[in-house]
Amino acid sequence: MAKYIELGKLKGEAPKLFGIPTKTKLDEMFFTIREKNGKFVKEPLGGIPYQSVLNITGIPDTGKSLLAEQFAAVQADMGYKVLFVSVESPVQFLYSALKQKANALGLDFEKLEKNIVLIDAAMNSEFREDLNTLIGTMEDAIKDKHITNVIIDSITGLYEHKEMMARQIVRIFFNFLKKMKQTAILVSQKRSSQDMMSSEAAGGLAVAHIVDGTVVMGKELIETKWQANLYGLPFGTVLRTIRIDGCRITGHDDRTWVFEITEEGIVNILKPLEELVKST
Ligand SMILES: Nc1ncnc2c1ncn2[C@@H]1O[C@H](COP(=O)(O)OP(=O)(O)OP(=O)(O)O)[C@@H](O)[C@H]1O
Ligand SMILES: [Mg+2]
Repeated sequence: MAKYIELGKLKGEAPKLFGIPTKTKLDEMFFTIREKNGKFVKEPLGGIPYQSVLNITGIPDTGKSLLAEQFAAVQADMGYKVLFVSVESPVQFLYSALKQKANALGLDFEKLEKNIVLIDAAMNSEFREDLNTLIGTMEDAIKDKHITNVIIDSITGLYEHKEMMARQIVRIFFNFLKKMKQTAILVSQKRSSQDMMSSEAAGGLAVAHIVDGTVVMGKELIETKWQANLYGLPFGTVLRTIRIDGCRITGHDDRTWVFEITEEGIVNILKPLEELVKST
């Protein structure tokens, strides 16, 4: 490889900017600026940026896995191949979770069965202990099955007990996913001491610094009168929030949005938090 390169030589190599749909409001929260009749207008991207590697972070039970699975289901229903690397729970659990999602969203489950490929790094400790084996298997799957989207739930699980290595490990996966031209979601977990709505996760800011963008999911228990009044929510309920913390590839909405998890486990982004507060 050449040691240096002229900018002009990259003409035609830059990935096109368009959205890979999640079919949640996240698709409109990423935007681009296009020229229309001599004017510059903001246009929703219609998905997460093509060939981006995004980090979804949050404390436990904030809906990170649900959102990642929903993205996989939607993409598979659209006919795209998805590789799901499960580091937290055995892949058998994903079968019923994805079936439930297909039912709730009116997706064709047969397409999901065909288009979603799984690697079980939860039960198979070799994948967690020897990351080269995991990457080799991912490469085989991507090539053999013509994969375009990859999910790793979670990247944190790949540097458990070795958080000092977080940066190197995330870098290896990031570079690999870029080389394979994938659109990817890496789920990362927060430590309890970390600020709930920051992009920081286990391993520090390693994931957030390396990836193209971070989405932070949070939850707040309504336990004071002040909170109940502010949000117009009953005591003891949970306010769920989602925010794009940053994205290098394209513009994005920087507000905090409110979402619900439906009884069927679907992530439904509702409205900006400021609107909820205004309406009370
Ligand atoms: N099938 C379902 N139906 C209804 N609610 C669900 C369903 N699955 C999960 N939930 C709810 O959504 C919450 C978030 O689940 P999810 O597994 O996505 O969390 P997470 O952010 O990935 O957490 P962790 O960091 O522990 O992996 C659960 O705690 C539960 O309350
Ligand atoms: Mg999870």
